[in-house]
Amino acid sequence: MLEVNGLVKLYGKQKAVDEINFSLEGGEVVGLLGPNGAGKSTTMKCIVGLLRKTKGEISIGGQDHLSTAAKKLFSYIPETPSVYDLLTVEEHLQFIAQAYSVKEWKPRAEELMLTYDLLDKRKKLGRDLSKGMRQKVSICCALLSDPQVLFFDEPMIGLDPKAIRNTKRIFRELKDKGKTILVSTHLIESVEIIADRIMIMKDGKIIGNDSLGNLKAAFKTGDQITLEDLFLELTKDE
Ligand SMILES: Nc1ncnc2c1ncn2[C@@H]1O[C@H](COP(=O)(O)OP(=O)(O)OP(=O)(O)O)[C@@H](O)[C@H]1O
Ligand SMILES: [Mg+2]
Repeated sequence: MLEVNGLVKLYGKQKAVDEINFSLEGGEVVGLLGPNGAGKSTTMKCIVGLLRKTKGEISIGGQDHLSTAAKKLFSYIPETPSVYDLLTVEEHLQFIAQAYSVKEWKPRAEELMLTYDLLDKRKKLGRDLSKGMRQKVSICCALLSDPQVLFFDEPMIGLDPKAIRNTKRIFRELKDKGKTILVSTHLIESVEIIADRIMIMKDGKIIGNDSLGNLKAAFKTGDQITLEDLFLELTKDE
């Protein structure tokens, strides 16, 4: 469902992403971990076409990632939520429904606004929303089109505890529906249970890419070790 081959992204002379290769099968949920500055967001932005890649090939659903066909397949939740200043919460959902030709979108939009405590904010303009509310609108918009593939960049940041719990539940539901998900996060426990695979980035490279069980086995650690322990061990400076 996603193929990334030889992806390189330079910012000036700095290599933020350094020749990475990975793929996601349909229905796979993959957690993307890595210290600040590892290149997670840059990788996602290149995949979704927000940043021009320096080198490499990316396909989504077998189509070039910049094609219209590929763009119809996925949603992206950016690390910094951006909303339209002059659209209300409900107008954001209406806009997405129209842009993606979502039929019968209203009940789903109501359900999403209820889940994320946005019903009483439905008439509020984007510019008047708090950071957490913007994040909630961004998540609702991404879910409304019911995409096959979802790219979440730090989805829990700024959310209140109830929204975090609901987002975890939604992840499980998306997984059960066979959606393909790449989620970057620093909240390791939020992906530990649902991820089929963990990818760990450091300095623009992928330094670990396997199931949690295999990662633990490769490091000859006992079963008691947590993903957090493993992450800190893998990413520590020599
Ligand atoms: N617009 C930019 N211009 C120049 N350098 C950038 C830009 N965006 C990111 N970088 C650099 O690229 C590297 C990777 O950044 P990126 O945002 O992809 O990391 P990240 O893994 O998402 O980190 P975080 O966990 O803090 O979100 C960092 O060294 C960062 O300073
Ligand atoms: Mg980031």
